[in-house]
Amino acid sequence: MACRWLLMTAICLLAAPTSAAEPVAGRAAAERGYKLLVEKAYLPPDFDQEVFDTAWKERPEPLRSQAEKASPEERRQLAFARYGLTPRPDDPSKPLQYVVDDAGKWTMNCFACHGGTVPDGQGSVTVWPGAPNSRFALQTLTEETRLAKAALGRPFSRMDVGGAFIPLGGSNGTTNAVMFGVVLMGLRDPDLNFDAKRGVPQMTHHDMDAPPWWHFQRKKMLYIDGFAEKGHRGLMQFMLVRSNGPEKFRGWEEEFRDVFAYISSIQPPKYPFPIDEKLAAVGQAAFNRVCADCHGTYGKDGRYPEKLVPIEDVGTDRVRLDALTPAHRDAYGASWFANYGKLANLRDPGGYVAPPLDGIWASAPYFHNGSVPTLWYVLHPGERPVVWKRTLADYDPKRVGLEIETFTHLPAEAAAGWQRREYFDTRAFGKSAKGHDFPDELTADEKLALLEYLKTL
Ligand code: HEC
Ligand code: HEC
Repeated sequence: MACRWLLMTAICLLAAPTSAAEPVAGRAAAERGYKLLVEKAYLPPDFDQEVFDTAWKERPEPLRSQAEKASPEERRQLAFARYGLTPRPDDPSKPLQYVVDDAGKWTMNCFACHGGTVPDGQGSVTVWPGAPNSRFALQTLTEETRLAKAALGRPFSRMDVGGAFIPLGGSNGTTNAVMFGVVLMGLRDPDLNFDAKRGVPQMTHHDMDAPPWWHFQRKKMLYIDGFAEKGHRGLMQFMLVRSNGPEKFRGWEEEFRDVFAYISSIQPPKYPFPIDEKLAAVGQAAFNRVCADCHGTYGKDGRYPEKLVPIEDVGTDRVRLDALTPAHRDAYGASWFANYGKLANLRDPGGYVAPPLDGIWASAPYFHNGSVPTLWYVLHPGERPVVWKRTLADYDPKRVGLEIETFTHLPAEAAAGWQRREYFDTRAFGKSAKGHDFPDELTADEKLALLEYLKTL
């Protein structure tokens, strides 16, 4: 059943095909978890409704005039498109990615990065909470709302101040989220007391593409390098702002058991375009020969090995691996989040975990840094674009992933600012699209068949 954005997410959860029916208690917890994420502001607000509604005045021409002439509803749609926001499936009057309270205060939630859209096969999209938000433009949203606040004489928020010291995201759809975590964790002791004396930790700014939440149920260890054992407390790191002291975390712990149940319940979407089943069966044989050792097998009796692959073997961008130092990992592992060392914690993982490939058609762009726009390019390492930009069309069913324009260098219009962030430049720091050459063991025909098989996962 298609899960259109006007239907309740809860209904989508119920309708999602699961092999073993979830216990009713688990389902109720999952529904509570979703509601908490969309309705409870765990952080101080980022901006208010008037700031959001007037931010168009801070956009360059011709965008400003376009917004000025638009009706309020069209203007809202333009703003949503510009910043990568979508309506909430169970209440389209609100965004999925921010909690908006009765006073009109907007507070970022987990779906800012973990809630996006997937194509519905009929030229439109379905909002899918748990799909990576490949359009989120945090830096642009923050810059334009900051200008709007100045114009309205409003105070700046933590994101405005933080954003002055830390880059938020250099290409749309990716964020410097891992370093947000490092800087926040760096100022806390293991019990999560704020401790300014600890000083600012070593930082290596880089952007990451959020992983889909439908992988969560398959994993024991989280993050691309699998360094941290899964647990409900770890889900709360994002709330480590100054105003949230240790007692808040203890108080919210029960709620995050529900959030854990919710994230564990998320299913990947099904490929909505036609599939050539015969060709896919040929592709499955190639997959099982060349890919399954690392990525596992799918369908009935599928098994996921959660294999950690040395960085030298996978060869994708290593900035993320090195950016989390043993000291950062130790600080996390010794803290309340990891139950003071009771949860497993790797201080030197040395590589990346081969992710599950369920719903892989729906989580473009690929690799942890989002550097490769389609599965076709994953399978053709020698032909990956140097610089690429999404087109207005949402999806490319031929190459399976984002529809893009490619460039050999950054065009002049992309010199700086928001325009630069519409391009993905694989020569920039932390953004390499190299590596993972394993598909080159296959013939051209096998790659074609394998691409078909990947649609079925
Ligand atoms: C600003 C963007 C952003 C926000 C907001 C955000 N995340 Fe994430 N999240 C990421 C990125 C990027 C990663 C990948 C980090 C890595 O692998 O090192 C990630 C990873 C995760 C993972 C690990 C998934 C896996 O398969 O290994 C979980 C679970 C998760 N986030 C939960 C949350 C929860 C719960 C919230 C809200 C309380 C949240 N995130 C808010 C960006 C974000
Ligand atoms: C030696 C282990 C290994 C083999 C063999 C392997 N992969 Fe991977 N694969 C990885 C690792 C590790 C990553 C994560 C790389 C990263 O994100 O930087 C990955 C990432 C991917 C991704 C991107 C996933 C995402 O969510 O962004 C796809 C798609 C993929 N592999 C498909 C394949 C296919 C198809 C094959 C067979 C032709 C294959 N892989 C063979 C280890 C392997």
